[in-house]
Amino acid sequence: MPASSSTAERPIGVFDSGIGGLTVVSALRRELPGENILYLGDTARVPYGGKSRRTIERYSEEIAALLVGEGAKMVVVACNTASALALARLREVLSVPVEGVIEPGVEAALAATVTGHIAVLGTKATIGSGAYADALRAARPGIRVTSRACPLLVPLVEEGLFEDEVTDAVLERYLGAIRAGDADTLVLGCTHYPLLTEALARAAGPAITLVDSAANCARTVARRLDQLGLRAPSGHPGTLDLSFTDPPDNFLQVVRLALGLEAGAARVRAARPLV
Ligand code: DGL
Repeated sequence: MPASSSTAERPIGVFDSGIGGLTVVSALRRELPGENILYLGDTARVPYGGKSRRTIERYSEEIAALLVGEGAKMVVVACNTASALALARLREVLSVPVEGVIEPGVEAALAATVTGHIAVLGTKATIGSGAYADALRAARPGIRVTSRACPLLVPLVEEGLFEDEVTDAVLERYLGAIRAGDADTLVLGCTHYPLLTEALARAAGPAITLVDSAANCARTVARRLDQLGLRAPSGHPGTLDLSFTDPPDNFLQVVRLALGLEAGAARVRAARPLV
């Protein structure tokens, strides 16, 4: 049964541990310009990537509940860590459809690889969960997967060090062995990493294609909205509302400019204390 038009007019809720999910928002804006987007970055508790499944599930549930409480018609988990560890739980407890970023990233990687050897970068929790390796092997048995946890990259991005000798040195540490191997595709398995694309491409070398989840995730969301009769009525440009659980610093402005995002002032909107 098609959803009522008032439901379709409600925003899409998008969350991440911090500002990384804005790379997904940027793709959603391009794919779905008529949708209102409500973004919530859990800046009070970033990073999620070194935390346990239990904590990541709890944080994700709390953040997603804030979005649903504000009327979100769908929740997009724009965080690989939360998608890898908490997607099943969110689908169990939320009353609205939930989309994550792992499957879209897997699709992008499988479309790009020629050699059948894919390298995946992610947080400790994402890599430790095996979510990418499992999904890649399930989709294409026989695929080779090399996974590398990169715990220093999220703090470098949150500090705005996109182009910096410290970032280059860290990337060399993480990517040296991958560059020397025969993987031809590198999955940026964390929504913060596309903000480091240029430095990552230099470190990976010309033989490796970089892929991420953002564009495929936006297409999946569009498909789901259509299937559910939830696409916003056309004719009006959608709004973008950015909010955070702790005041974001001036660096947010740099990210917005880098991603071409237009939005009003960012707000701090924890509805109840998050600890
Ligand atoms: N953007 C999140 C991801 O995609 C970052 C995780 C973190 O907070 O460590 O995994």
